[in-house]
Amino acid sequence: MDRRTHPPLFRQHSGLLHGADYNPEQWPRETWADDARFMTEVKFTSASVGIFSWVSLEPAEGRFEFGWLDDVMDILARDGRFACLATPTAAMPAWMSQKYPEVLRTDPDGVRRKHGNRVNFCWTSPVFRDKVAAIDHALAERYAGHPALGCWHISNEYGGTCHCSLCEAKFRTWLQARYGSLDALNHAYWTAFWGHTYTDWSQIEIPGGKGEGSVFGLALDWKRFSSQQIIDMYCYERDILKSHTPDVPCTTNLMGTYDCVDGFAISKEMDFVAWDSYPWFSGRPDEPAAWVRTSFVHDLNRSLKDKPFLLMECTPSSSNWYPTWQLKRPNQFMLEGLQAVAHGSEGVQYFQWRQSRGSMEQFHGAVVAHNNRSDMRVFQQVKEMGELLATMPFVAGSGVPAEAAVVYDWEVAWGLETCIDFRSKRAQYEKTVVTHYRALVEQGLDVDVVDSVSDLSRYKLVVAPMLFLLRPGVAERLAAYVDQGGTLVCTYMTGWVDQSGLAFHGGAPEALRAVLGVESEEWDELYERQSNSFIWNGNTYEATTYCERVRAVGAEVLATFASDFYAGEPVLTRNNYGSGKAYFVGTRTDIGFLRDFSKQIASEVGLTPGVASEGPTSVSVRRRQGADADYIFVLNYAQEAAQVTLLQPGPYHDLQGQPVSSQIDLEPFGTRVLVRPVSG
Ligand code: GLA
Ligand code: ZN
Repeated sequence: MDRRTHPPLFRQHSGLLHGADYNPEQWPRETWADDARFMTEVKFTSASVGIFSWVSLEPAEGRFEFGWLDDVMDILARDGRFACLATPTAAMPAWMSQKYPEVLRTDPDGVRRKHGNRVNFCWTSPVFRDKVAAIDHALAERYAGHPALGCWHISNEYGGTCHCSLCEAKFRTWLQARYGSLDALNHAYWTAFWGHTYTDWSQIEIPGGKGEGSVFGLALDWKRFSSQQIIDMYCYERDILKSHTPDVPCTTNLMGTYDCVDGFAISKEMDFVAWDSYPWFSGRPDEPAAWVRTSFVHDLNRSLKDKPFLLMECTPSSSNWYPTWQLKRPNQFMLEGLQAVAHGSEGVQYFQWRQSRGSMEQFHGAVVAHNNRSDMRVFQQVKEMGELLATMPFVAGSGVPAEAAVVYDWEVAWGLETCIDFRSKRAQYEKTVVTHYRALVEQGLDVDVVDSVSDLSRYKLVVAPMLFLLRPGVAERLAAYVDQGGTLVCTYMTGWVDQSGLAFHGGAPEALRAVLGVESEEWDELYERQSNSFIWNGNTYEATTYCERVRAVGAEVLATFASDFYAGEPVLTRNNYGSGKAYFVGTRTDIGFLRDFSKQIASEVGLTPGVASEGPTSVSVRRRQGADADYIFVLNYAQEAAQVTLLQPGPYHDLQGQPVSSQIDLEPFGTRVLVRPVSG
């Protein structure tokens, strides 16, 4: 088997990374010595510096002061550490917005913001672009060749939209390039409905706010354009940096499935993917919906470039803005860090190094707390993490060889968010994809998260829930994938609209009907607490929320709805197509059904877990594949002790090389990292 490994993210460091956002310019110099000493104690390899430092680097227009950053970079280099050196563009200086108000962002209501907060700039403003160019050129010129320069951390969490007249004009130009003619645009938007036909390009306005809210295609294009604006700004900064330091990798910290930028599209421009994980704002850590979602996002970030990524930020204790300010329970800190590594991160970095004394996030968790002591619980945990990561440098560069993929597609998410019929309803695209994903990872399978235009050829199984919007060629590509022997699972809400949001005249594309062997007729939305059901393999399963009425046109019917006027009609089908198979699940099902269903399919297509194991579903056993060993992460997400048995033949040993039994006892939130050498 080809055991594919990847080169290190930084040229200077081949092991796993351990670091944090570091803002020494906010502190008196006396603390810097403590910082250096403490960082050595926790075995930091790296630090992200300069993220919001624009005004410290350029206190007045065109006057640069790099002295303090020189010192910081030199200290990092002296101690053998590397910087993720940021461009400071996420927080513009007040002198800038005061002098050039056009740099400020305009909100959907058309009102330009006042100065404040961050990521508060217009994506288009030529003045802002010039100012970005000036600081980025100056930074890159100064630190090109500096031994501490590990990578460029471009800006910070790019996001949001700007609704100013400059952005609006650019949107029109973008639409002109996309459609060529107004007729084509009017057709794509079906503007004849309600007499919305445009007769001049200048009539097109940014949708939303007090403006146009009823043209689906326009809203969809605004999403696409706004995502492109972010990518464009990223590329603008990147190209400046590359002109000075062509070999230094560039990245920016993404935010999971954040909808403002298509992660697949922007990652094509990045040398490696980085993301910030703050999972517990949406639920308790031991709830599967919460931890499985985090695993999903890690897998997504690994899949974006099909290579390891970097967990750029996570909180060492709690985030001040979580709805419940809960501290991490014993072992939980280690669990979350190892979860990232298990799914493909090349290390663990935090926000932030030193807890801020004031302003926003003064009580956000940090490695060094306000009391500046190293004998604190959090500090000691960070130290433990540093020690552990340092004992497994060989994990860096190892891969996760998934043979199954779930499809998560930003365009589908935008479609369901902007389609007038679904945006306030219960579509829950991401949650649905995550539930399908969960059914696979619970079996120990390695899973990639791809989008609808990714290369599918290497997967034995592709699960594409709710593929509501089909970009051009997607139906044909899915059909080709199955034709060549792949197994595809689609669900209700597949192929309802094209990329402009237009329903397909004559029903879903021929290729889709041919591959699935079903034709959709209509769908029924159920009320809360209303359900239908179906029997499959002798078990009864619940059908909720959406029930799609389809006719089988070639597919074999495996199960039918049990009640209501469509009782007896297909709910689960299988179609043989070419050398492969396509399944259709015509209703929303729960994890119970998806577990049973995906188990059967996995065995049909010959999917096997990276490391087979027996234990509760709250214990996840993951594997990263190195050149000559498997690295096995045993992760207990429950707040109670658990036992798991590894079923594959060992030998297994721990990170010190000592033999380990295949029966493993785990504490609440406990973890274990094992090595299984590959024989021969
Ligand atoms: C984000 C930002 C950080 C910080 C953290 C914690 O990820 O990038 O600057 O604000 O959240 O809230
Ligand atoms: Zn703007």
